[in-house]
Amino acid sequence: MDILLIHIKELINVERTAVSKVCGKDMQVLETIKDAYLHISGAHIKDFGSMKDIDLSDYSGRQFEIKDCSGQMVFPAFCDSHTHLVYEGSREIEYIDKIRGLSYEEIARRGGGILNSSKRLHEASEESLFEQAWGRVEEIMGLGTGAVEIKSGYGLNTADEIKMLRVIRRLKQESLLMIKSTFLGAHALPMDYKKNPDAYVDLVVNEMIPMVAGEDLADYIDVFCDKGFFTVAQTERILMAGLKYGLRPKIHANELDFSGGIQVGVKYDALSVDHLEFTGDAEIEALLNSETMPTLLPGAAFFLGMIDPPVRKMIDAGLPVALASDYNPGSSPSGNMQLIMSFGCIKLRMLPEEVIHAVTINGAYAMGVEDEAGSIAKGKRANIFLTHPISTYAFMPYAYGSNKVKNVYINGVLTV
Ligand code: NIG
Ligand code: FE
Repeated sequence: MDILLIHIKELINVERTAVSKVCGKDMQVLETIKDAYLHISGAHIKDFGSMKDIDLSDYSGRQFEIKDCSGQMVFPAFCDSHTHLVYEGSREIEYIDKIRGLSYEEIARRGGGILNSSKRLHEASEESLFEQAWGRVEEIMGLGTGAVEIKSGYGLNTADEIKMLRVIRRLKQESLLMIKSTFLGAHALPMDYKKNPDAYVDLVVNEMIPMVAGEDLADYIDVFCDKGFFTVAQTERILMAGLKYGLRPKIHANELDFSGGIQVGVKYDALSVDHLEFTGDAEIEALLNSETMPTLLPGAAFFLGMIDPPVRKMIDAGLPVALASDYNPGSSPSGNMQLIMSFGCIKLRMLPEEVIHAVTINGAYAMGVEDEAGSIAKGKRANIFLTHPISTYAFMPYAYGSNKVKNVYINGVLTV
């Protein structure tokens, strides 16, 4: 049965002609329709427009579920293009260490951080990992997310990386959410390789990538190219090996220093480079001549008390920007994209229109689903959420910390 949502207070981010991303000053221009309707047919958006232009008697003879949305706004569901939501347990101990004054790098150096999650993941069964991740997927769907990218990277040996990626594959099969998976074998150096980091890179290149690609377990490949983690030369080796198997890069770059990660990402035509706290003129210049989406993770910068990336400078230079949650146990234990919108406005000084583009269409681009998600456009998947009655769309980032999402449709199915 088709669904007709009527009297939508405001339909947000409508596209009459589809665009793949929104850049620079255009990020301030948000197309909306007040007192709108939205026609969902099967899994897709069939039509939308102003209530003035619709004759409801046209819909009376056919089988339609008609829902009056007075007071409610409709948004395209969030596209969260960077998460690590498959993990075992949690790491509040490190959180307390951080409060006491230790830095992320200090915690990592003494075997905490990513290596701590890796040890726990090794001990966990695939079933238990799936159940925990399933809970997180359901949680973010309830908060308005319709598409999510999930990385491996807590395995750090071939068997455990494959274990994580199989969990992601099962999530793809069983969840309604649109899911992309990314192989992040080079997330941290396991203790056994501290004296010989290149031997770990050999393992990633010669064993992990062929196996991951052989089982078709990943859509993308990622490397943590940063101070204390992987160098530009190591990153290049891994990206080249991945590209041989058609794995496009999406990389962690410039979170801890001017690491060269942004430039190497651009050189290998990364779909996105993510974090970017350390972004200067040279990095902006490199990004301007690329198809790579700069992706900021303000939840992680907030949680770790880091400096913020120079977003205003980036957007004013003409760049697009995506925002993602980075949902993970160490630097951002939340996948709440509503909160990410608030951080975008409050911490990064982005305008509400800019953050809306950053969490919808630009996020969709950063995970390669912009043809199907990220805006209200004819033929795209009906992945949308309805808000509780709210005054303006700026109320979404303004009222931080509360859930403004009332209902969520994924592929035209009411899930929440
Ligand atoms: O994106 N920066 C690297 N990786 C994750 C953190 C993962 C962890 O601490 O468990 C991030 O912030
Ligand atoms: Fe991350």
